[in-house]
Amino acid sequence: MGTNVEASNQPNSSEDANVSTVEKKPAVVFVLGGPGSGKGTQCANIVQQFGYTHLSAGDLLRAEIESGSENGTMIDNMINEGQIVPSEVTIKLLQRAMEESGNDKFLIDGFPRNEENRASFENLIRIEPEFILFFVCPEEEMERRLLCRNQGRKDDNIEAIRKRFKVFLESSLPVISYYDAMGKVFKINAARPVEDVFESVKSIFDKAD
Ligand code: ADP
Ligand code: C5P
Ligand code: MG
Repeated sequence: MGTNVEASNQPNSSEDANVSTVEKKPAVVFVLGGPGSGKGTQCANIVQQFGYTHLSAGDLLRAEIESGSENGTMIDNMINEGQIVPSEVTIKLLQRAMEESGNDKFLIDGFPRNEENRASFENLIRIEPEFILFFVCPEEEMERRLLCRNQGRKDDNIEAIRKRFKVFLESSLPVISYYDAMGKVFKINAARPVEDVFESVKSIFDKAD
């Protein structure tokens, strides 16, 4: 059965407290970093080794466009401009994917991307992240990676990339600072080969397990 994200947020009644099937809140790790810092690449490795379900907010939004949803045009326009889609849309997609996964531990990649994302997750999903992985990488390196990513993304062109960097600095970094002040952020030097970055990632999950 899938994780019931909403129900798991209700306080247990005294009756439920004795039932062995009482649902526990799922564990959530936010995976953040600039565009092209390697979030998706590292998440694939974490899934293999640690059994998390990987939910990329960007991937979910792209799938929503592909599905022919009534929000598709709006999402497409925002992605092409590097803008952050309203949280109500993204949260619904995340919530549905969590419920459908059947898992109870999630890597949420590329979310929260701004203060509105963060506050909505807190208010609607009501799960505190266990910790935040923050992949730190210079813009020149991220730009190089994005320009040769070759996944057919319309926003991997120099004009959109520059807009995405600006949004990252202005809107996403403050969210990371918010969690940093709570002592929840693990900074990882992402400007190294994939295997070396994963060594650092692994040591964090080994300790958390
Ligand atoms: P993000 O999800 O953060 O945007 P991706 O994981 O999609 O980043 O990586 C962007 C591009 O860079 C991909 O083509 C990927 O293969 C490549 N890449 C990822 N990590 C590294 C790394 N450590 N060194 C070199 N290239 C990388
Ligand atoms: O993470 P990724 O690079 O796949 O995100 C692509 C785009 O999806 C972002 O530039 C943004 O337009 C949109 N997005 C969003 N809200 C998120 C994550 C991604 O609007 N939380
Ligand atoms: Mg990605």
